[in-house]
Amino acid sequence: MSAPASTADARRALERCDELAGLSASAEGVERVHLSPEHARANALAARWMGELGMRTWSDQAGNQWGRLEGRAPGLPALVLGSHLDTVPDAGRYDGVLGVVSALEVARRLAPRAGQLPFALEVVAFSDEEGTRFSTALLGSCAVAGAWREEWWERTDREGVSVREAAERFGLDPSRIGEVARRPEDLVGYLELHIEQGPLLEAADRPLGVVTSIAGARRFTGRVVGEARHAGGTPYPRRRDALVGAAEVVLAVERLAVEADGIATVGRLQAHPGGVNVVPGLVELSLDVRAEHDEARDALVERVREHAQRSCARRRLAFELTETHTAAGVRCDEELQASVLAGIAATGDDAPPRIWSRAGHDAMAMAAITPVAMLFVRCADGISHAPQESVTLEDVAHGIDAFEAAVLDVARRRG
Ligand code: GLV
Ligand code: MN
Ligand code: MN
Repeated sequence: MSAPASTADARRALERCDELAGLSASAEGVERVHLSPEHARANALAARWMGELGMRTWSDQAGNQWGRLEGRAPGLPALVLGSHLDTVPDAGRYDGVLGVVSALEVARRLAPRAGQLPFALEVVAFSDEEGTRFSTALLGSCAVAGAWREEWWERTDREGVSVREAAERFGLDPSRIGEVARRPEDLVGYLELHIEQGPLLEAADRPLGVVTSIAGARRFTGRVVGEARHAGGTPYPRRRDALVGAAEVVLAVERLAVEADGIATVGRLQAHPGGVNVVPGLVELSLDVRAEHDEARDALVERVREHAQRSCARRRLAFELTETHTAAGVRCDEELQASVLAGIAATGDDAPPRIWSRAGHDAMAMAAITPVAMLFVRCADGISHAPQESVTLEDVAHGIDAFEAAVLDVARRRG
């Protein structure tokens, strides 16, 4: 593999990842959630960086930050490059963020030649991909795709603040959410660079991969309902311990997912009332289910639901599952994938790994209105959604080179 054209751009991109992490790093680590003060600070920083490149900048009514360079004529449809700036709790520095800062490096390289491009070049920093705050995901990109749902306004965070209240406090006008939607005819496509968040590139000893499809997740809040009673005084035959029931559910979730070659995770579990000497009467848990194809994922959801209901009933417990998020899996566009492959080939690898993404991405929402494709960058040990996320300077340099070459390939195809 040839040496990357420039490590200076990659160094700046990584310094910016650090700068964004520094906006929200506290004793608890990095956390930047939708419509928070950290979100406003991150958008302001991204807007400044976009402005420095001569981009026209704006933030929309869903909290997304945009920048645009005109192409060879004003008002041409745009090729959009981007990712998200929100994070999971106790996050790493690169999930989403690397895609935004790399898109800015591509814009920096192309800015002097933008007037020759057959499209406008836009960079977007989406506001909510993770769903950390409101237990749903892709709020920013769904608004752009015209897929906003009215019921989302009433979703609340753990403090009981609704999306509507949070949006108003952020300075947004919920009645104008419809204006965020972009028209398909105003777009050429959407390209996203992202860390892989898995170990396949490392195992293949390759810095970059091309994404073939993105698995759609379904997320739920589950409730196991029993009866809170005295921990000492209640004989076992009388106990209806919701936490023991939930423990059986958690084990079954893992077993059923492995059997079905799917992926299912209980990431949050809360026992109530939470007294050391009280039999737990209620457990709330989260459930996230994925598979390469939506049919397999949906079948796994039903198996988990039936199994949990049966195992809870044996303990005289009720089990309820409420859906909080669903995203359809999407296939990446063949022609844009070919451009990503051409971009990676320009860095010296003409047969990079082809990967279906187990993680969700803003590209899934954007696919409803425009062709999408993605480029993965290797991350150490495949670890993500954790502070240990790490990438190398050299891989990021290859990633930016490939990203730029992919954009130029799209330009070449459009003539
Ligand atoms: C987003 O990172 C997801 O796949 O949950
Ligand atoms: Mn991400
Ligand atoms: Mn993520």
